[in-house]
Amino acid sequence: MTEGSPLSPSRAAAAAATTIKPTDLRGILKYIPRFRDQVFVIALDGAVIADDNLSNLLVDIAVLRSLSIKVVLVHGISLQLSELSEVRGVPITNADGTGVTDASTLDLAVRASSRVSHLVLEGLTQNGLKCAITNAVRALPAGVLKGVDQKRTGKVDRIDKETLHHLINANIIPIIQPIGFGPDGHTLRINSDLLAIEVAETLQATKVIYLSQQEGLSIDGQLRRDIDVAALRDVMDSSPDSIAMGSRSKALHAVKAIEAGIPRVHMVDGRIYDGLLNEIFSSEGVGTLIYGNDYQQIRQANANDVRFIHSLTRSAVKREELLHRTPEAIEANIDQFYVFEVDENIVACVTLQFYPNAPTVAELGSLYVMPFHHHRGVGRKMVEFAALRAAEKGASLLLALSTQNPTFFTSVCGFEEADKAELPESRRQVYEANGRNARILIRHLGATV
Ligand SMILES: CC(C)(COP(=O)(O)OP(=O)(O)OC[C@H]1O[C@@H](n2cnc3c(N)ncnc32)[C@H](O)[C@@H]1OP(=O)(O)O)[C@@H](O)C(=O)NCCC(=O)NCCS
Repeated sequence: MTEGSPLSPSRAAAAAATTIKPTDLRGILKYIPRFRDQVFVIALDGAVIADDNLSNLLVDIAVLRSLSIKVVLVHGISLQLSELSEVRGVPITNADGTGVTDASTLDLAVRASSRVSHLVLEGLTQNGLKCAITNAVRALPAGVLKGVDQKRTGKVDRIDKETLHHLINANIIPIIQPIGFGPDGHTLRINSDLLAIEVAETLQATKVIYLSQQEGLSIDGQLRRDIDVAALRDVMDSSPDSIAMGSRSKALHAVKAIEAGIPRVHMVDGRIYDGLLNEIFSSEGVGTLIYGNDYQQIRQANANDVRFIHSLTRSAVKREELLHRTPEAIEANIDQFYVFEVDENIVACVTLQFYPNAPTVAELGSLYVMPFHHHRGVGRKMVEFAALRAAEKGASLLLALSTQNPTFFTSVCGFEEADKAELPESRRQVYEANGRNARILIRHLGATV
């Protein structure tokens, strides 16, 4: 695992600025049913465990447990292993479990790991949480790689799913050390970035959250708030050096995780006060969200779709849920339409419109899902897709105007009610002229959840 620079005054200020206010609780509420009983694997670098913010992080983990989120902790030890090597004057062959582990390095790794696990046990106990260190990781020697014997470095063979589920269901947080046990019962050192992903895959976790000393994933020195896995894979293939050194291992494992079916991986600075909760419960987040492509079924509409879109939305127009649009009007603006297909049939649509004089504003409209497909997440996916597309095109504010269903936007999609002053001038004139008095809803664009 990687270690970075110490907490600077500017990050401390950023930390203070990201504190969740009690008024944000309403916003948090919408995530609670979605996350209940889901498994989150939280991977803490050794350096995060050594940081003053550890006690706050453990309180955040207690909050997650109180919301019925099933937490599994995986920890690293590279900082502690390096320190132990220095104090004892025993050289190590590798600190992060990715290179050769000789016998004396393994010995120090076991000591460092016991110390780090104990700190986590102690902190969780202080927060009234039950937890247990396990031997759930079965490993095999990494063997000879590129002609070099990796000695006591291991790779994951099998994770004991039953034991972990048993603990989680008994309200006990499993603490997983970066150590595994080979077929002969002997100890092997395992990289904790890799281990977190293997555990998440076995438990079908919905999130892996890497807490390190990096503020997130930086590409060419720019912090990314979110990136989809295909774009990240491209960067790693074409210019791996553009990814900050300290984040490369996590980026690599994030791609593997998402390819293995874990929907989201977060990279967060573990030294930020309330950073973990903000990343999980705010739409902007504080670190980087790496996500799979949920949007394969969504495509831009074309002229052949006009008739389908028109008939699809007709009943909603009758109920005044949507504004009437003639087939000609749909065709003239077909570039604004996106459709959701199931088995090549269009079952939902949405529009995304931009205003030349207000380039930071985009408007989502004509959101419609066929009743048969309701309650399957299609509506939310269309909104998230529109939000991502709007952000990609430079918008920082997404508008939605709704007469019948404003609560879908506010309680499910992270919008809030706003005044017509938020509308771009040309849109405000249309709004005032048409007399529909739709509710004006806005969402500031940032990372998706
Ligand atoms: C509103 C609409 C787009 C939702 O589509 P959907 O695919 O069913 O939405 P999702 O499955 O993503 O819904 C997620 C949650 O939203 C909630 N939801 C749906 N409509 C809601 C509403 N009006 N108010 C509050 N919550 C709502 C549901 O409870 C659902 O949760 P559940 O599955 O636990 O029941 C769909 O009902 C629709 O097309 N309505 C008619 C047209 C319309 O009103 N468009 C919006 C105005 S522009």
